[in-house]
Amino acid sequence: MTVASAPGKVYLFGEHAVVYGEPAVPCAIERRARVTVERRDDDRVRVDADALTLSGFTVAWGGDAGETPELDVPTTLVEAAMGYIDGAVAQARDVAREAGATDPDAGLNIGIESEIPLGAGLGSSAAVVVAAIDAASRELGADLPREALADRAYRVEHEVQDGQASRADTFCSTMGGAVRVQGDDCRRLAGVGNLPFVVGYDGSAGDTGELVAGVRALREDHDFAADTVAAIGDIVREGETLLRGQETPLGELGELMDFNHGLLSALGVSARSLDAMVWAARESGAHGAKLTGAGGGGCIVALDDSAGARTALDYTPGCEEAFRAELDTDGVRRGP
Ligand code: PMV
Repeated sequence: MTVASAPGKVYLFGEHAVVYGEPAVPCAIERRARVTVERRDDDRVRVDADALTLSGFTVAWGGDAGETPELDVPTTLVEAAMGYIDGAVAQARDVAREAGATDPDAGLNIGIESEIPLGAGLGSSAAVVVAAIDAASRELGADLPREALADRAYRVEHEVQDGQASRADTFCSTMGGAVRVQGDDCRRLAGVGNLPFVVGYDGSAGDTGELVAGVRALREDHDFAADTVAAIGDIVREGETLLRGQETPLGELGELMDFNHGLLSALGVSARSLDAMVWAARESGAHGAKLTGAGGGGCIVALDDSAGARTALDYTPGCEEAFRAELDTDGVRRGP
């Protein structure tokens, strides 16, 4: 039996602007998806996923890959989840075949557990895919270097998400730490100190495609919207310089996060629930707070080294769940 786990992520800076060639800084968080893979004696693939949270729905299923289980949730969500797992298994078989493994098509029992809310901008699907490819390829007798793992995981996301995926989630989940992404150029930022994140989740999810299209239209119609996107790029560059310094200046990073949220809000991708959580975190003493991911609903991230923001979010109407999540520096782990 082989086990792997991989972290989720938040965007410290730069979502949306990254679509137009600006850099972004996603950061891996210590909330993981864990995948267990065990060879079977036959050629079937069985998937057991306990308590995966799909945009607020909790699902438990057990069944053969390729079958859509009957569940009281929108089938598109279940099909997407199964698509990620099928894609990960196909990549692992490919890796095993290339490595000359004896039985790359062996049947597999796959178990999935995730602490990351699905579809909320925390990179849950990337974490599942990264951990599944790593565990399945090792169970099938092949070893994949991290760069190649990140690339194969990206291919799965790209296919399941109809070409809409960026490399940010899969690269960040594989490598861990704070990461810089600009187009296809992904690299880890070395020497970043601890970042005490607090995440607030409103229990919903925005429609990424629609939100990206909205920003694109604004940017085409108005020079000031294009300038806003470029200004987000400037924030990212300044944030990167701060992260590369000897100390991690939480106050200055927080100020940039606040500014970044304001610009995202100007681009129309915030929501009442996200603004309420951002303000609750700020007013309770967080260094800064912003939405993370596509927006429209989902999660905010605050930088807070006291207990204040976490407690304030627990009492914020519209916040369904709040948790601390330190920066994860490991990325994919060969174990739980
Ligand atoms: O919600 P997420 O974590 O998938 O992030 C979307 C980030 C965008 O910049 C809005 C889109 C993208 O593909 O980069």
